[in-house]
Formats: sequence, structure tokens, C-alpha cells
Amino acid sequence: MTISFEGQVALVTGAGAGLGRAYAIDLARRGAKVVVNDLGGDPFGVGENRSAAQKVVDEIKELGGEAVANYNSVADYDGGFNMVKTAIDTFGRLDVVICNAGILRDVAFHNMSEEDWDKVFAVHIKGSFTVLRAAWPLFRQQSYGRVVLTTSSSGIWGQFGQANYGAAKTAMLGLMNVLKQEGAKYNVNVNTVAPVAGTRLTQTVMPQEMVDRLKPELVVPAVVYMVSKECQDSGLVIEAGAGNFNRAVMVKGPGLQPGMESLKDAEWCQANWDAITSLEGATPMWRSGQTLKDYLASKAKA
Ligand SMILES: NC(=O)c1ccc[n+]([C@@H]2O[C@H](COP(=O)([O-])OP(=O)(O)OC[C@H]3O[C@@H](n4cnc5c(N)ncnc54)[C@H](O)[C@@H]3O)[C@@H](O)[C@H]2O)c1
Repeated sequence: MTISFEGQVALVTGAGAGLGRAYAIDLARRGAKVVVNDLGGDPFGVGENRSAAQKVVDEIKELGGEAVANYNSVADYDGGFNMVKTAIDTFGRLDVVICNAGILRDVAFHNMSEEDWDKVFAVHIKGSFTVLRAAWPLFRQQSYGRVVLTTSSSGIWGQFGQANYGAAKTAMLGLMNVLKQEGAKYNVNVNTVAPVAGTRLTQTVMPQEMVDRLKPELVVPAVVYMVSKECQDSGLVIEAGAGNFNRAVMVKGPGLQPGMESLKDAEWCQANWDAITSLEGATPMWRSGQTLKDYLASKAKA
């Protein structure tokens, strides 16, 4: 069945280019009214330009869709609230938030400045907080919300030269893991995408031929499905792009439980390190202290 967003309103941050633009256009094609947010700076987070968001709004309107531009920075607390206000003032509601805006400041760790660290954290992690903090009360009130956060293979697995970016992108997983629990009762699902696509950001690290081939549209289906009413899952990390879709997950190894009666020493750990670090029989967790298996069993009983 066709997935439709008719009657729904979506806010996509950083939608003036690359992946965000592609999400916004597909959502609009499927009937969503879209708030196209973009500050319009350069890939390092310098400058502002209103034409980025405006161009995508014009594109959507030419396709017969409905969209409005917002030019706030996601890094500003008030900016997040203004984006949500733009949705409400223009379209009367908000159903979907895709936290996508991003910048890069790659540099080997020994050369990383405080500004490189702070700017990347401000856009990625604070920039997701500001928007979601504004949207969350609405989502709770209407008992509906769909959120996609944006991590990166760098945040899940690590990448040389991206200590700031990788750490900020791992923080997205922490944010998702809490919000999936706080949103569960209110039908607010929070999932995360780790995309790969040829865009302005990856132009600095990929050869041009690869940039041309890895179309952002190859990521779109996973994100659009995850923000649809059809998707009932929450707390998933999906790697998407370049013709691939897969789930990534953190697991907990069975380890050893020697108990608390006799204190063990470092030599005991050394002697048992293979068993402590073994992932044989490892399980994904739903939340701290509860395995996914237990969670699914409790859901099935309820
Ligand atoms: N392209 C990839 O392969 C890849 C891989 C992993 C993660 N990502 C993530 O995907 C997201 C989109 O990246 P992209 O590759 O499409 O890059 P892009 O540069 O084409 O798009 C990012 C957009 O975010 C906007 N933006 C930056 N700072 C902003 C701010 N403070 N407020 C509002 N808008 C702001 C930019 O103006 C730009 O239009 C980012 O979060 C990025 O980290 C991309």
C-alpha cells in the first residue's frame, strides 16, 4: 500500500541541500506539508544564506506540494521553538521531525580546537535537542509523533579525524535510547539513520565519481518509512545508502558473574579476559537492565 503523509506536517532540519532536501521532496510528494529549515552556511558551519531553504520550498511548490521556509539555526534554543511555531502557524500541526542539519570540522585529535569541538556538538546534538524539546510537548498532547535522528557510521563505528563529529553522532544514539522510552506511552517513535550519500559534506572526502553515484535518494526510503504512521518501531538504528539497508545494534555479551562475596583482582580479570569479552550469546538491550528479548515478551503479554 502506498505510504501517504496526507494531512500531516513534517519539519526537516538542514533541508536546503543534500539528504534533507531529498527527504523534504519525497515527503511533499507523498502529501506532507513541509517546513524546510536551513541556515544556509558552509559545510564548516560558517555563514548564513536564506536561498538554500527558499530554493527547496520553490522546488516543492513547482511539484505541486506545500512547503514553508525557516532560516533559524538548530543550534539556537529559540530557533528550535521557532521552527515548531512556523509549522503550527502555517499548517496548524506537526507530526514528523527529521533532525538532519549537520556540519563537519574534521581534524586529527591532537590539532582539534575547542571551537571545532563546540561547533560540531552545537549543530548535531544540541541542534537535535532544541527542535525536539519544542516538538515534544505537542507530540505528547496529540499522542502521535515520528522522529528520525541522524547519526553516522563515524558515530557507530568510529572514523579517524572525526573525534568531535563521531562523539556527537554517538550522542544521537544516547538521545534516541532515552526518547524511545519517554515517547513509547504517547505513540512517539524515535529512530536513527546512519546515511551514506554524495553531498556537499562528503565531497571533501569522496572522489567526485562516488559523490555522483551515491544519490541521497538511495537513503530516502528508510527515513520516509521510519517517519510514517505505518512504522511501529522505535529505537532502531538503520544504516542506509549506496544500495544498502541494514540495522546496526549494540549488544551485551554474557560475560562472567563471579558474585560479590569474594573480591576479584586485576589478575583474575586477566585470566578470564576471553570470557569477559566474548560476544558468544550476546543480546541486544531495550533499555538499561532489560534485554530486548524480555521487552518483546512483556509486550506480547500486554
Ligand atoms: N552524506 C553522508 O554520507 C553522511 C554520512 C553520515 C551522516 N551524514 C549526516 O547527514 C546529515 C545531512 O548531511 P548532508 O550530507 O546532506 O550534508 P549537506 O551539507 O548537504 O546538508 C546539511 C545541511 O544542514 C544545514 N545546516 C548546517 N548547520 C545548520 C544549522 N545550524 N541550522 C540549520 N541548518 C544547518 C546546511 O546548511 C546544509 O544545507 C548531517 O547530519 C550529516 O552529518 C551524512
